[in-house]
Amino acid sequence: MEKTTPMVEFKDIAKIYHNNTAVEKVNLKVNHGDFVCLIGTSGSGKTTTMRMINRMLEPTSGEVFLNGKNIKEFDPVKLRRKIGYVIQNIGLIPHMTIYENITLVPKLLKWPEEKKREQAKKLIRLVELPTDFLDRYPGELSGGQQQRIGVIRALAAEQDIILMDEPFGALDPITRESLQDLVKDLQEKLGKTVVFVTHDMDEALKLATKVVVMDHGNIIQQASPTELLNHPANDFVKKLIGEERLIQARADITTAQQIMLKDPVSITLGQPLKSAVSLMRKRRVDTLLVTDDDGYLKGYLDLADLNKYNRVTSVSDIMITRLFKIYTDTLIRNSAERILKQGLRYVPVIDHQGKLCGIVTRSSLVDMVYDIIWGGSEAEKDESADSTQGGEVQ
Ligand SMILES: Nc1ncnc2c1ncn2[C@@H]1O[C@H](COP(=O)(O)OP(=O)(O)O)[C@@H](O)[C@H]1O
Ligand SMILES: [Mg+2]
Repeated sequence: MEKTTPMVEFKDIAKIYHNNTAVEKVNLKVNHGDFVCLIGTSGSGKTTTMRMINRMLEPTSGEVFLNGKNIKEFDPVKLRRKIGYVIQNIGLIPHMTIYENITLVPKLLKWPEEKKREQAKKLIRLVELPTDFLDRYPGELSGGQQQRIGVIRALAAEQDIILMDEPFGALDPITRESLQDLVKDLQEKLGKTVVFVTHDMDEALKLATKVVVMDHGNIIQQASPTELLNHPANDFVKKLIGEERLIQARADITTAQQIMLKDPVSITLGQPLKSAVSLMRKRRVDTLLVTDDDGYLKGYLDLADLNKYNRVTSVSDIMITRLFKIYTDTLIRNSAERILKQGLRYVPVIDHQGKLCGIVTRSSLVDMVYDIIWGGSEAEKDESADSTQGGEVQ
């Protein structure tokens, strides 16, 4: 079993019912350790695609490979036991103990008693429940505890790949979130490969290493969550992701470098104040960034201060060295709020050596994110714009 061979590979898969095309053409690789989320509107072919992995459905044409081997070469019953399958709600069987529930598939696989017991104990510890719960019945556990047992049951048979078809679809949002966390955590800890069907974009973005967007039996895009948010393939994908999430994502991934203005007005340390004043006048700015001869940012000058010190002669004498600056690779998300809330009109952007590279202005930030992410009325925005004081920061 080579790691470079995909765990599952679809080659030109189609599934057609009479004249109804459930899956038109699917080419997809699921690598070892992937968490693949199939997402799309209802009827887009997600469930059909997934069920062709364990031969619950046979494709009309095309080939599916498991670890490089055509699944037609497997006995369907044996194949299904190699592959975990979880359907909606992960219900436990009420008249079986927790132990019997967890070891349902291992029993079918004829594991020895001791191995089953070991596995059940290991798993129940993983979800932080006491081992004596193994002898209880589902009805004696809280709803949340039952759900966690349902999740570990899906992992009990040590199958390398697990198929989950909207397992949390009918749960309330809080329970759903905690089970998502649990599944993701266990999947990573135990190194499982998961194919997960959902119609919930938040769920897909949270869980997936690869999001597969389906529409009318075709894959429209397959990409990591970041890629998907960054480069949605078309309007269908954009709509599925939603405008608000896209804008938010833009702030999450945009760096200062990407939105900064290059060539900010600046002056070097050794220049006479006279030059600073005339440069300010010429460029109509009231602050001036100061660098040394090699372009390293040293501080800034404020027009208001220049009048106070008419006896000093050089920029370095009165420059203010305390200033807030950000790096070229600083994420806008991490600095925008501070810049906007402190009423800074701009902040200098430096590289990691300290060289001045540009400035990020308040207005470029406002353009990008203000309304959507932090809200705030028009009135508030105007007010803070009036009260801004140059590049003063700390
Ligand atoms: N047994 C079937 N006979 C005919 N059409 C089917 C059958 N199963 C699914 N379909 C159709 O195939 C399409 C894809 O279904 P499905 O894979 O269940 O979609 P999804 O899981 O994305 O909601 C739908 O239009 C559905 O009506
Ligand atoms: Mg479905």
